[in-house]
Amino acid sequence: MPAVEAQVVASNGARIPLIGLGTWDLRGKVCARMVEEAIRLGYRHIDTAAMYGNEAAVGEGLRASGVARDEVFITTKVWQSDLRARDFERSTKESLAKLKLPSVDLLLIHWPNSSIPLKETIGALCKMKREGLARHIGVSNFTVQLIEDAVKLTTEPLVNNQIECHPYLDQSKIIAASRKAGMAVTAYSPIARGQVKGDAVLMRIGKAHGKTAAQVCLRYLVQHDVVVIPRTSRLERLKENFEIFDFKLSSAEMTEIAGLANPRGRIVEWGGGPEWD
Ligand SMILES: NC(=O)c1ccc[n+]([C@@H]2O[C@H](COP(=O)([O-])OP(=O)(O)OC[C@H]3O[C@@H](n4cnc5c(N)ncnc54)[C@H](OP(=O)(O)O)[C@@H]3O)[C@@H](O)[C@H]2O)c1
Repeated sequence: MPAVEAQVVASNGARIPLIGLGTWDLRGKVCARMVEEAIRLGYRHIDTAAMYGNEAAVGEGLRASGVARDEVFITTKVWQSDLRARDFERSTKESLAKLKLPSVDLLLIHWPNSSIPLKETIGALCKMKREGLARHIGVSNFTVQLIEDAVKLTTEPLVNNQIECHPYLDQSKIIAASRKAGMAVTAYSPIARGQVKGDAVLMRIGKAHGKTAAQVCLRYLVQHDVVVIPRTSRLERLKENFEIFDFKLSSAEMTEIAGLANPRGRIVEWGGGPEWD
């Protein structure tokens, strides 16, 4: 099981900062500015993907921050349509060219694709690590079954499964399976795309700590050793989302927040093949 030291999760040899900036939907100058400011504020982890169309802007923001490259953990992902070995390699190289980096810290399979053999994709993913294009590799949106399959097929350690995770969704089974395989879990849509903002329970708990509902939500996840990558296009929220390491939720508060999970809690639609449960 991954170990947590300070604000980093250690998993299968990787050290992943517990909070990162999500960048889905951020483009061009706004994206570059948010990345630059986030790093200046203390963020040391940025999440992007080939599919987001913003890797060039992420690279620009990283360079503008003035912080040394090796101090910031950069994740990118290869999209579902590029999971054939040749496409996978091309997509990875294109991502690096856009980022203007020789390697990323973490390369993920963005979504599984049941029409392409997993063996071929995992083989391509491992090749990217062996050739030094990615320091670490992992998966995203993988089910319990797919995690088991991937672990059997891989020749390199898989360090991370990035999944939708927030208090409205019970992800305990997939989290347990990921950790059993030695992978840290990263929560995407960690504040339920902003839905947690007006939540009565989170607001009440926040009031007791002098924190907002979003901060309580993010704290809940990191207190469970889950990496969070909230996205914002507002400078003031960069700071708000980062200030989650100076308070602790009680076990009663943690239990109450877990009780917010409901069967309709999922935001990002899953579907499209037999691999979905
Ligand atoms: N692997 C995958 O398949 C996958 C899927 C989805 C997302 N992701 C990654 O995960 C990241 C985060 O997920 P997400 O963008 O879906 O959702 P999210 O981070 O849960 O929520 C983002 C939304 O919440 C608002 N927000 C941010 N901070 C807030 C705060 N303190 N209080 C209230 N509202 C706040 C933002 O609006 P403002 O901009 O106005 O602040 C935005 O509308 C993505 O950016 C992407 O990097 C990965």
